Amino acid sequence: MVKTKKSSGLLDLSVKLCGVVLENPTVLFSGIYEAPQDLINASKNGVGAITTKSVSINLREGYQQPRIVKFDHGFLNAVGLKNPGLEKAKEELKKMLSEAKTPVITSIVANKTSEFQKLAKEIAELKPHFLELNLSCPNVEAEFGRPFATDAKISAKVVKAVKKVSKKVPVIAKLTPNVLDIKEIAKAVEKAGADLISAINTVGPGMVIDIKTKKPKLGNKRGGVSGPAIKPVAIRCVYDIYEVVKIPIIGGGGITTGEDAVEIIMAGATAVGIGSAVYLRGRNVFTEICKEMETFMKKGGYKSLKEIRGAAH
Ligand SMILES: Cc1cc2nc3c(=O)[nH]c(=O)nc-3n(C[C@H](O)[C@H](O)[C@H](O)COP(=O)(O)O)c2cc1C
Repeated sequence: MVKTKKSSGLLDLSVKLCGVVLENPTVLFSGIYEAPQDLINASKNGVGAITTKSVSINLREGYQQPRIVKFDHGFLNAVGLKNPGLEKAKEELKKMLSEAKTPVITSIVANKTSEFQKLAKEIAELKPHFLELNLSCPNVEAEFGRPFATDAKISAKVVKAVKKVSKKVPVIAKLTPNVLDIKEIAKAVEKAGADLISAINTVGPGMVIDIKTKKPKLGNKRGGVSGPAIKPVAIRCVYDIYEVVKIPIIGGGGITTGEDAVEIIMAGATAVGIGSAVYLRGRNVFTEICKEMETFMKKGGYKSLKEIRGAAH
C-alpha cells in the first residue's frame, strides 16, 4: 500500500495475489531484463513485481545473434532461454530477494517433468514470493517434443509434481497462446493445484525476412512474436481463461499503455504483465502506465480495480 497515494487522495492500485501485496498491478514479464542488477533497479522504478529470466538446470548459451528484431507492430525474439543455470541463478536470486523493493517471481524452465520438480524444490528453499513455470518449451518426453503447455494432461502433471515440493511458495502456470483451446489447459492447471495463471507467452513462431539480403533477420530464423501486434490475442486468452477458472490471472501480451492495462483487467486479469513495452517506452513505463490507468479510472468515476476487473463479461 502506498501511503503517499492514500494521503494525497490518489487511487489505490494495489493488488493482492495469494496473500502477497503488489503496490500496483504491473508485473515485469520474464526475459526482458536478464542481469540481477537490472531487475533490482526495475523494482525501484515503479513496477509492482519483477520476474526473473527463466532458469534451467544447466547453463544455456542461447541462440546466435541477432536474438531480437523489431518489426512494425512488435518484436520477434529467439533468445534460446539463455541463462546461467541453477547454481548461479540461486546466488543471483538470493541477491534479488535481499535487495529488490518488490515481490520476486522466479521463472523456471525444463524439458522434463522431473527437471521442473528439481528446479522447484531447490528454488522454493530460497523462498521467492512466487514460482513461475514457463511451460512453453519443448517436452523431450513427448512425441515430436510438443511444448508442455499445449497438452492439458502434461501441463497438469508438471504442476502436480512442482506442488509436491514448492512448500508455501505460490505456483504460477505460464501458458502459451499457441493452442486451439486455452480454456482446457487453464482448467487442467487449476485442478492440478496452480495458484495463479500467467498468460500469454509469445505468439508464433514468426519470421521476418530482410528483403535486401534475402535472409531471415533473426539468428535462429524463427522466433516468438511479442508487443502491440499480439494484444488482441492476449485479451482473448485472458477473457477465455477468466470464464473457466477461479484463480487470479496475470494477463499480458502487447500491453503498452494504461488503457491497454485497463482493457486486460476488464478481460479478467488481476495483475498486468508488461514486457516489450519496456523496449518501446523505456524503464519508466510502469509508473507511466499506472498514471494513465488512474487518469482513465478517474474520468470514468471508477474508485477501485475491483470495479473494472472482469467487467467485459
Ligand atoms: C526478449 C524476450 C525474452 C523472453 N524470455 C522469456 C523467458 O525467459 N521466459 C518466459 O516465460 N517468457 C519469456 N518471454 C516472453 C515474455 O515474458 C512475454 O510473455 C511476451 O513477450 C508477451 O508479452 P509482451 O508483448 O508484453 O512482451 C520473453 C520475451 C522477450 C521479448
